[in-house]
Amino acid sequence: MKPLQGKSVIITGGGGGIGRPTARMLAVAGARVIVSDVREDAARMTRDYVVENGGEAIAVPADITREEDVRELVAAAVAAFGGVDVLVNNGGGSLARDVDIVTMDVGVWDAIMALNARGPMLCCKYAIPEMLKRGRGAIVNISSGAALSGQLGIPAYSAAKAAVIALTRSIATLHGQQGIRCNAITPGLIMHERLAEIFPAEQVRVDAENILTPSPGTPEDIGATVVFLASEQARFINAQVLPVDGGLLAHTPTYAQTRAMVSKRLEVKERS
Ligand SMILES: NC(=O)c1ccc[n+]([C@@H]2O[C@H](COP(=O)([O-])OP(=O)(O)OC[C@H]3O[C@@H](n4cnc5c(N)ncnc54)[C@H](O)[C@@H]3O)[C@@H](O)[C@H]2O)c1
Repeated sequence: MKPLQGKSVIITGGGGGIGRPTARMLAVAGARVIVSDVREDAARMTRDYVVENGGEAIAVPADITREEDVRELVAAAVAAFGGVDVLVNNGGGSLARDVDIVTMDVGVWDAIMALNARGPMLCCKYAIPEMLKRGRGAIVNISSGAALSGQLGIPAYSAAKAAVIALTRSIATLHGQQGIRCNAITPGLIMHERLAEIFPAEQVRVDAENILTPSPGTPEDIGATVVFLASEQARFINAQVLPVDGGLLAHTPTYAQTRAMVSKRLEVKERS
């Protein structure tokens, strides 16, 4: 039996760099996937990719910031697969103009809050009643490591992703005993084609020097965690925030700078 056999799973942002492989991994785990994205063509491409790989999926375009779209998205999931078992709130992102607070355009702030905080809330608002009808459900919210530590930039995005963590805990607390689990993942830097277009190579190198794994994170690392948290294998995990970041935020802040010094000390010790 596959871990998500026959489950009806909505994934937002399903046309994106993390969303597309995650949708495929959900289908490989047995899920019937509702691939949603504001970019209709991207949602369709992911649906085709899932189906070509032997999975079951439909594409439903939706702008998660719009309540009517989200209502229709959940209705489409119910019409296609009879209900909603799992919601993956993956749609999100920042804007180039999210740079600092002093120059913050409130329109930019509001847009980022709408996408990253209101969007997941709306998806929960409409998916939870469907989960309650079945007496069970799992929600996986994709937050960000940016919610957990100070950043040089992206203040609106960081604040919005922190809101996602609070939303996660609220939902788990409100609905846990009704059979609904709600957990969040905080990814570190996860490079993919779409991000490579806008992300400076120098920053990728700095990140690689500061993680505690020999190689960087991939969209599949997030997908595997989503599948696990959505499945019954995680039945006793609720209201948690799971970093999938190669240990980026777990070590001393001076790790990268002092590594060379420490290995020199070890060399001296070995010689003495
Ligand atoms: N890639 C990373 O390094 C990283 C790190 C931490 C967190 N995250 C989070 O992971 C999630 C996926 O990110 P990604 O790297 O795949 O980015 P991405 O831009 O490739 O994917 C995001 C998807 O969300 C969709 N989207 C944007 N606005 C939307 C809207 N209003 N309604 C519905 N869908 C909308 C986009 O069309 C896109 O397909 C995001 O929530 C992001 O904040 C990513």
